[in-house]
Amino acid sequence: MNYKIGVIYGDGIGPEVVREAQKVLDKICATYGHTFTYEEILMGGCSIDATGVPLTDQAIAQAKASDAVLMGSIGGNTATSPWYKLAPELRPEAGLLKLRKELNLFANLRPAYLYQELKGACPLRDDIIGDGFDMMIMRELTGGLYFGERSTKEIDGVMTACDSLTYNENEIRRIAKRGFDIAMKRRKKVTSVDKANVLDSSRLWRKVVEEVAMDYPEVSYEHMLVDNCAMQLVKDPKQFDVILTENMFGDILSDEASMVTGSIGMLSSASLNETKFGLYEPSGGSAPDIAGKGIANPIATILSAAMMLRYSFDLDKEADAVESAVKKALADGYRTIDIMPREGDNLDGITQVGTDKMGDIICSYI
Ligand code: IPM
Ligand code: MG
Repeated sequence: MNYKIGVIYGDGIGPEVVREAQKVLDKICATYGHTFTYEEILMGGCSIDATGVPLTDQAIAQAKASDAVLMGSIGGNTATSPWYKLAPELRPEAGLLKLRKELNLFANLRPAYLYQELKGACPLRDDIIGDGFDMMIMRELTGGLYFGERSTKEIDGVMTACDSLTYNENEIRRIAKRGFDIAMKRRKKVTSVDKANVLDSSRLWRKVVEEVAMDYPEVSYEHMLVDNCAMQLVKDPKQFDVILTENMFGDILSDEASMVTGSIGMLSSASLNETKFGLYEPSGGSAPDIAGKGIANPIATILSAAMMLRYSFDLDKEADAVESAVKKALADGYRTIDIMPREGDNLDGITQVGTDKMGDIICSYI
């Protein structure tokens, strides 16, 4: 098969981790006889430096002309980077939000899976970890607080800022359907997360989710308040299969879920619309503090590339091959620094490697 992949290297550790994912994709091409061509797309801080804006119309057109986009991460240190002295709509993150909106990428899938081999990196107690856990966060990505009207102005001499959280029933219905669809392919349980004891948008969310649930009699579902969910994720993460939630709650809960799996460096993600197109990126940030040191964990990006093979290209066998190669690398003891065992734990059979070596090892297992 021939596919055209748009590549956004982005900022910080982005270029380092994307290069490893490309290596893996190239190995897949060589092994299974596919041809992937890559086209670089500028977005984020690097685009600001080159063009003055975080995402140009040309970059949007390039993304639209691709079969899928593989992305690293964008942004810099919000306290020190000159990018954060710019107006909000000119900052790196604005580019990503614009791209999500332009491509209508409303469904964000973030799998959080605890590899048995990484139990040692999980900060939870062994009795909580048990046999491990495997959940999928289905985050709404083009609505809510991120895209509502906002303003900062002086009212009666007092500076006042406002962000608004809006959802209509159609936006809720389409993401809820995605959540239930994916639950059908998993353990058939949906936990819909909201703040219905306070927010109108959450009460509508709950109502629409209940309507959608009627079409999925095999799926058991429950509603959970977001504060309780944050607690349950560390108290008993095994209870979750699919967590269905709105944009902001999903942003926060997915970072939390990633840490209980050991490291945010392991968490992949796919952002999908109604077509086969998808934007694939690690869930973590650009980690400017470790950029250029060659120590970043490329696994989240490599697993995101596997999601691309599966969801955009329907190459399930190839996606399985990448995921198995990652498992084997972990089973054979290879670790980047973020997933090293805790201090005092047994280091027998464990080898600490850098970004590039981890990519090479994973390729060698395909
Ligand atoms: C994420 C990130 C983004 C978000 C930022 C960079 C705008 O945190 O993908 O989770 O909040 O969606
Ligand atoms: Mg986030």
